[in-house]
Amino acid sequence: MPSEPLLRARGLHKSFGDNHVLRGVDLDIDAGTVHALIGPSGSGKTTVLRSLNGLEAPEAGTLRIGELELDFSRPLQRRQRAALHRASAMVFQQHHLFPHLTVLGNVTVGPIRVQGRSRDEATADALALLERVGLREKADAYPSSLSGGQQQRVGIVRALALQPSMLLFDEPTSSLDPELVGEVLAVMTELAGEGWTMAVVTHELRFAREVADEVTFFDEGVVVERGAPAQVFGDPRHERTKRFLQRLQGPFG
Ligand SMILES: Nc1ncnc2c1ncn2[C@@H]1O[C@H](COP(=O)(O)OP(=O)(O)O)[C@@H](O)[C@H]1O
Ligand SMILES: [Mg+2]
Repeated sequence: MPSEPLLRARGLHKSFGDNHVLRGVDLDIDAGTVHALIGPSGSGKTTVLRSLNGLEAPEAGTLRIGELELDFSRPLQRRQRAALHRASAMVFQQHHLFPHLTVLGNVTVGPIRVQGRSRDEATADALALLERVGLREKADAYPSSLSGGQQQRVGIVRALALQPSMLLFDEPTSSLDPELVGEVLAVMTELAGEGWTMAVVTHELRFAREVADEVTFFDEGVVVERGAPAQVFGDPRHERTKRFLQRLQGPFG
């Protein structure tokens, strides 16, 4: 019997004023898989991820992550928002590191202040995670002294330090110079190999093709199609998907 997905979203609706951005989004993500979300700018991809992390509150729809079940048609209680925030951790397009905190401070502030973990334990975990992404020697540096790729790797470590059940990436390489993209994708590929469950909004089609288990094409607030990367990229079912991929890949893609 196939197991239940780790994440199941149904019928998510979200408006900003009269801008109806999410128009009934359904999403399933299996534990231990990488799910790439692709789609045009302004189609609502960031809003989907933020909804999965409790940073936006959809007006309707349901969401289950692991044991946590939410019905957005009722206002979330504080404790439900906190649980959602704990279930998933977000890596932002711009890293959003605190400029006045060191790398170590940035990584430990959530575990200590929000999750109430001891400083010693949070510090030991943070140093081990920094070691894994090759940034142990930057623990006492400030974000402004790091390259964009290093900052984004710290952003990933900060998400990992929260010990979430899944990771959400919002175009994690789109603000980087091209020569820095590889080091961030390499860390993400490693995490995928370790069995992390990941939802990744990305324009890196090669990453999506090679690392993702599933791809969802998203447009105008709805899922247009989803499938294995080879199918969605090689033989898209919908005209909208074809047009999007052609635009993105250009004539030589
Ligand atoms: N906080 C917000 N307030 C008002 N409008 C927003 C907000 N966030 C997103 N939007 C609008 O929602 C739409 C989808 O945005 P977004 O989810 O960022 O799309 P994508 O990530 O696919 O580019 C856009 O029209 C955007 O202007
Ligand atoms: Mg976005």
